[in-house]
Amino acid sequence: MALPSMAPRVDLLASLTLAAALGVGCTKPAPPAPDDAEVTRRAQAALAPLKQGLKAELGSALAGSIDGAIDVCQRRAPELARAHSQNGVTVGRSAKKLRSPGNAPRPWLVPVMDRLAAAPSGSDAHEVVQLDGGRRGYAEAIWVSAPCLTCHGRDVPDSVAKKLAERYPSDGARGFAVGDFRGVFWAELEPAAR
Ligand code: HEC
Repeated sequence: MALPSMAPRVDLLASLTLAAALGVGCTKPAPPAPDDAEVTRRAQAALAPLKQGLKAELGSALAGSIDGAIDVCQRRAPELARAHSQNGVTVGRSAKKLRSPGNAPRPWLVPVMDRLAAAPSGSDAHEVVQLDGGRRGYAEAIWVSAPCLTCHGRDVPDSVAKKLAERYPSDGARGFAVGDFRGVFWAELEPAAR
């Protein structure tokens, strides 16, 4: 007989529903934390203008002189990162083999970069991590392509090498080949970041 045996379960369900409705046994619910997919979406949206800006400015500078292009990277890259850090999201670039000490990794990025560097070359490798104070971190791999070799490759032209040596005495970002892991675009999101 189905009905009598179902009755206790229905009672239980009814009392659970009532308890939930009354808030019995529940602490005040925290605002829902964005899930990893949402953090990824927000971080990628914040990084898009930084990437576009770098691409556009480096592209037009390379069409002129290499000196000018190095200037763009040195001066404009940090400016663009600052300009696009807004609404509770901070963005930047970093690397394991660094050129500029100004791009040194925040501590959370160190193990994340180790994992991303082991991803298949050219893949859309990215990672979301939990940081203190409810903040979230996002990083995505940057892979070396042919245009990068002028300033990051094994056979950097003498004039470029000279310029880089003047400006970055401890340059560790040379000797790359196409497809190598170059570093990351990263973002840090405050708990209320949109
Ligand atoms: C005209 C020379 C030049 C070219 C071409 C170039 N870079 Fe750079 N790159 C630089 C300089 C200079 C810096 C240091 C920027 C700074 O001071 O913040 C840099 C810094 C970086 C950084 C930040 C981490 C670090 O080591 O300081 C990344 C990541 C990077 N470059 C990736 C690339 C990639 C990927 C390409 C090709 C798409 C590329 N670069 C092409 C000159 C260049």
